[in-house]
Amino acid sequence: MTANKTLLLLPGDGIGPEVMTQAKRVLNWLQASGRASFTIAEDLVGGASIDANGVPVTDATVAKAKEVDAVLFGSVGGPKWDKVPFEIRPEAGLLRLRAELQVFANLRPAKVFDALADSSSLKPELVRGLDIMIVRECIGGIYFGEPRGIETLPNGEQRGINTEVYTTHEIQRVGRVAFDLARKRQGRVCSVEKANVMEAGLLWRQVMTKLQAEEFPDVQLSHMYADNCAMQLAKNPKQFDVIVTGNLFGDILSDLAAMLTGSLGLLPSATLGAKDEATGRRPGFYEPIHGSAPDIAGKGVANPLAQILSLAMLLRYSFDMQEDAAAIEAAVERVLAKAGRTPDIAVPGRATISTSEMGDALIAELEAI
Ligand code: NAI
Ligand code: MG
Repeated sequence: MTANKTLLLLPGDGIGPEVMTQAKRVLNWLQASGRASFTIAEDLVGGASIDANGVPVTDATVAKAKEVDAVLFGSVGGPKWDKVPFEIRPEAGLLRLRAELQVFANLRPAKVFDALADSSSLKPELVRGLDIMIVRECIGGIYFGEPRGIETLPNGEQRGINTEVYTTHEIQRVGRVAFDLARKRQGRVCSVEKANVMEAGLLWRQVMTKLQAEEFPDVQLSHMYADNCAMQLAKNPKQFDVIVTGNLFGDILSDLAAMLTGSLGLLPSATLGAKDEATGRRPGFYEPIHGSAPDIAGKGVANPLAQILSLAMLLRYSFDMQEDAAAIEAAVERVLAKAGRTPDIAVPGRATISTSEMGDALIAELEAI
């Protein structure tokens, strides 16, 4: 039994609370079966927090998020808050939490469950067994680099400016996350940039090469230009194990890789910070990649598996509960193979079930272990 772990749940808006309810059932199962003991707090975030507190996340919630071992987040936003000022829109709560926690490595697995290999836009043989991990640097690069802005030139023309900036330190810390992950997987990292046309990319390549030689000689490192990587992901995605890349390329490539798997309702993510060498603690923020899905919110039909798989990532990366994480993933695999399906992944001949029925099926699989 793992020692007591602290957890903050932030369900948010739309389908967030609906899918979080099912993740809580898994947490309850872990505790009831004596596998772990958690101290769990829950707070409002996004539109729900705007309605209650006037801001998308309160200082108290931010402080709590910093205190706990890990945060499990649902999703925020919806038409109700489309007119609120830009600085306090629901998404600002998410951005503030990520910034305050200093989480810089966004992990986006693209894993194809056997039972869903037919729902990819690629041929089943290209994606069956696909299991890649994209590590995207997410608080640096061109989305944050200075100078930036729109300026007016003396001749009256305007000019929009963004700057790609990466320091040695920023590249090393995300590189270490990728190499560490590869050690627990197939031992291969592909580092992606445009070193042929961008200096920041050239430095990225040099730093990754040195880091591998000095600290990770047991991991295999290759380099690829981002445009070729996009092509290779569509052509032969199974060639990859871990891909590590900057903010902009990671944004695009992770969405491309996600869609190879066929369903938004099945995709989790983790965002990790630096490990504190003294305490061994590392901030971890976990969330499904989907949004609040206002079109289906309140109908009880959202697929809860992305939220539950985000919890599995939390157990793996924040709590080192490898076996329990694997048990949850295996239960998801079995549910997809034989239980009914929520409408987003419905197939002819299989019953269409609700969010809570999907939760029932998953718990039944876990209890059968
Ligand atoms: P979305 O991911 O919420 O929905 C896109 C489509 O996928 C919709 O048709 C939705 O019904 C479906 N879908 C999403 N998750 C599903 C699930 N678990 N089960 C079944 N179907 C699912 O993206 P959209 O529509 O672009 O954004 C809706 C709202 O969510 C907006 O307010 C947006 O700002 C917010 N959003 C929030 C995110 C977050 O909290 N991290 C991320 C993306 C969007
Ligand atoms: Mg995106």
